[in-house]
Amino acid sequence: MNQDWRDFVVTVDQRGLATLASAASAAVESLARPTGPRSNLTPAALHELIWSMEICPEAGSDLATVLADLGEVVWKHGVVPSDPACVAHLHPPTLIPAVVTELAIAASNQSMDSWDQSPSGTEVELHLMSWLAHLIGMPTSASGIMTSGGTASNILAMTLARSWAAQRIGFDVLKTGLPEQASRWRILCSDQAHFSVQRAAAQLGLGRDAVVAVASESSGVLSVAELDETLTKLSDENLEPIAVIATAGTTDLGAIDPLHEVGQRARDHGAWFHVDAAVAGALLLSDRLRPQLAGIEFADSVTIDFHKLWWQPFNASSLILSDAQQFDLLRVKSNYLDRGDELEGMINLVGRSLDTSRRFDAAKVVATLRTLGRRSMASMLEHLVDVALFAGERIEGNPQLELVAPPASVMCVFEVRGANRDDLRRIQQRLLARGEMVLGRTEIKGRPALKFTFMNPLTTFDDVERLIAMVTAEIDS
Ligand SMILES: Cc1ncc(COP(=O)(O)O)c(C=O)c1O
Repeated sequence: MNQDWRDFVVTVDQRGLATLASAASAAVESLARPTGPRSNLTPAALHELIWSMEICPEAGSDLATVLADLGEVVWKHGVVPSDPACVAHLHPPTLIPAVVTELAIAASNQSMDSWDQSPSGTEVELHLMSWLAHLIGMPTSASGIMTSGGTASNILAMTLARSWAAQRIGFDVLKTGLPEQASRWRILCSDQAHFSVQRAAAQLGLGRDAVVAVASESSGVLSVAELDETLTKLSDENLEPIAVIATAGTTDLGAIDPLHEVGQRARDHGAWFHVDAAVAGALLLSDRLRPQLAGIEFADSVTIDFHKLWWQPFNASSLILSDAQQFDLLRVKSNYLDRGDELEGMINLVGRSLDTSRRFDAAKVVATLRTLGRRSMASMLEHLVDVALFAGERIEGNPQLELVAPPASVMCVFEVRGANRDDLRRIQQRLLARGEMVLGRTEIKGRPALKFTFMNPLTTFDDVERLIAMVTAEIDS
């Protein structure tokens, strides 16, 4: 095919933009697909289909054809988070303002590491981070950074907590590595906390065993009595809690730990107080739901994922610090990027990040919030909480099913009476294989369970009835 590569370089002149717009419209058309949360292609058939696609032919093809092929081969066989039967994970449908802004983000390709690669982008991200810190209720010293996800935000928070613990005993951990005392350092969180806490401890050289899991109550919230007991035990053993983590919205049950109480314990023991609000941080937008997060404002750091209940395309997370100066604990000077001799006001965000080159994801979040406004975002969230409560009521009234705990945010976790782990696996896998439902399956304190995670604000109460009927039909079959 006779094409000129010059036509594919993004330019912002009239011709370049017209070419981009027409390609974008072909990409949008390629998304059209039959209904259902996923196709019923077997893993083997899917493998064959994808691997038959030539990755890099000697000569290229027309873009419209390539995009149409992607539609047939890839999008048609992906999952559809906007389908009400896609309820396994914290995997949201996305919002149009964010998705179209992604195109602008990619086309303009600002890089967030240095001011000279993203002058306006740097200010937008800082503005968004300050707004979020204010929403949390933190002091004006607070600010943050966007990261690729809740895992990255939690790892960054624990990196800072570790450097802070070292700094307090006169150690520059970035330069000399861990001090001897580090073998006594512990990170406390509930047994329902996300596994990224363990990953952080492992990456930071503290080891997974440095994470002490505090027993949670049956509702999934951290037990403060157990936390007190654990802290006493650590002190008896001459071990030092350097960080205490509360989870606001656990991955399975959506439970929100008692933030005030956990924060108080962290302060009493001189430990860094981190709140992992990757899931429930969005509740801050709702006057009705926000009180559930009382105490979050006292955190040293907070993780909030925009790519969960803010309906942003991946990647979009943030870590907010109550004292943004603490990011200095991370800073590594580089000769070419962050020299420290820039003009006044030229901030290089690389100083706050574990990444160097970084996407301007703040733009899509801002576009979304400005388009929908706080009230609409809050309504969407409140609806999903109501959907989960409704599912809880229906499951409670169903003799074949049993709730593991009352829904605390947007999840509903339940057992099937008389069914074991294998039975649940069969139910979930059959629904997945037939492409009828992407259902969650987990284990809470050794109890195998199924899970609905309601992320789609278009989900209706009728959809919930239908999902429950589909599960019970599968039990009976
Ligand atoms: C409570 C919590 N924290 C952190 C994460 C990690 O988020 P991500 O998948 O964006 O890395 C999750 C993911 O589900 C989560 O539920």
